Amino acid sequence: MNASAPRPDLMRFFLKTYGCQMNERDSEAVEAVLLECGHRRADCENDADLVLVNTCSVRGKAEDKALGKLGLLVATKREKPERIIGALGCMVQRLGSSLLDRVPGLDLAVGTHRLVRLPEIVEQAARGDGPVVVVDEAERPAEVLSGRARRGPSAFVTILLGCERRCTYCIVPAVRGREWSRPGADVIEEVSRLAAGGVREVTLLGQSVMAYGRRNEVWPGNYTSGRGYREPLTRLLEAVGAVDGIERVRFTSGHPSGCTPELARAMAEIPEVCQHLHLPLQSGSDRILEKMKRGYSVRDYRLAVERLREAVPDMALTTDIIVGFPTETGAEFEMTRRFCAEIGFDNAFIFKYSPRPDTPAAGWTDDVPAQEKIRRNQVLLEDQNARCAAVYRSMPGTVVKVLVSGLSARNRARWTGRTRTNRIVVFEPAVGVKAGDTVRVRIEKAMPQSAFGVIERAAK
Ligand code: SAH
Ligand code: SF4
Ligand code: F3S
Repeated sequence: MNASAPRPDLMRFFLKTYGCQMNERDSEAVEAVLLECGHRRADCENDADLVLVNTCSVRGKAEDKALGKLGLLVATKREKPERIIGALGCMVQRLGSSLLDRVPGLDLAVGTHRLVRLPEIVEQAARGDGPVVVVDEAERPAEVLSGRARRGPSAFVTILLGCERRCTYCIVPAVRGREWSRPGADVIEEVSRLAAGGVREVTLLGQSVMAYGRRNEVWPGNYTSGRGYREPLTRLLEAVGAVDGIERVRFTSGHPSGCTPELARAMAEIPEVCQHLHLPLQSGSDRILEKMKRGYSVRDYRLAVERLREAVPDMALTTDIIVGFPTETGAEFEMTRRFCAEIGFDNAFIFKYSPRPDTPAAGWTDDVPAQEKIRRNQVLLEDQNARCAAVYRSMPGTVVKVLVSGLSARNRARWTGRTRTNRIVVFEPAVGVKAGDTVRVRIEKAMPQSAFGVIERAAK
């Protein structure tokens, strides 16, 4: 057979991703698997023979977006009937075959747990055997897809699958299933491969990442930590930081119960671990936290932050907040505002409560009027924008170490990167500086959501 003859089964694919970093990570791995099979990335969505949408179920709006997108894509099959349109991820896991009722004409759908099977499913769909729907029960741990198709100095590594916290509003436990921690050795192997490919920064992912290694054994009995760590996550942070080439280690999302003295010590001692933590708060009212079943009080949260900041004084914190949770009063919302000001978050993702099917909270009256949710969201956003701007205003005159991520998306004449505290820095290009380098930047000017500066010199 002529090796260069065109293979009709090989496709140009395009992948659109909604949702959290976990989904981004899954999408990267899906791309890698497809490339390995000989498929190619399309330059744009219109050119693609295979279009996949990795979906998110976390809020109603996230699902509406994915449904809208899938509907539009399926409609393009009128002109291009051979085109294959598929849905992946959390919504597929949640809805199973009933997704086909919402998006008639879909060729394939694969849930979060069996993405590894995608190549054969694509083949089946291409043979005209569709629609093919593969959703395995979330009780079994997902098969972990590794591999990465994108270049760039920063990568995500999933270390904890699933979630069993069952916060009363949250759909994630239903779509991501049982908690299961990847063995430390597997994680180290993946990080080593990434580092050999030029990655300098890894973010270790888990919905409740501090639960890493709490339910299944991740370190063999003879494992010893150089710094004497006993907890599974701190051991992992130490081991990942020690991988050749890795300069920065982050992990997300945190939970106050996981902010142990040992974690605080590790964040202070391990030079690669960054001075930043995403620690979702959700509410500053104990009554609402209790109703959410978050497993901490405002006091617990404050103590966790104090412990971390005692060990790492310049620790930057970011958070998630839900406004308009059932029965949240105006006074309780004000408590959230005050507490956010007290902690002084660098950044906050603020969400309007959205009832999710089959969660406990969905059985309660969604009694905060839509207009009021919008108002609370707006108020908190303005507070946060002001705080964020103040953070950047404090930076001019300082010199920060920046991991160069690449050209700025907003202004192609400039470069951008992040500090160890995850702040965004924009700077003029300099000869010889490339993505993945760490440079020292003298900050000259503050902008509302970034800082501008000039490179002093490469920093190691
Ligand atoms: N596992 C992470 C959060 C994952 S979901 C954690 O618990 O820290 C990301 C964020 O979406 C949550 O922190 C929460 O703020 C928001 N969220 C989740 N379910 C929601 C819902 N039903 N309505 C509105 N926001 C929601
Ligand atoms: Fe959802 Fe709570 Fe798990 Fe986060 S910790 S994914 S909010 S159930
Ligand atoms: Fe969404 Fe699934 Fe992540 S529901 S937030 S993409 S785990």
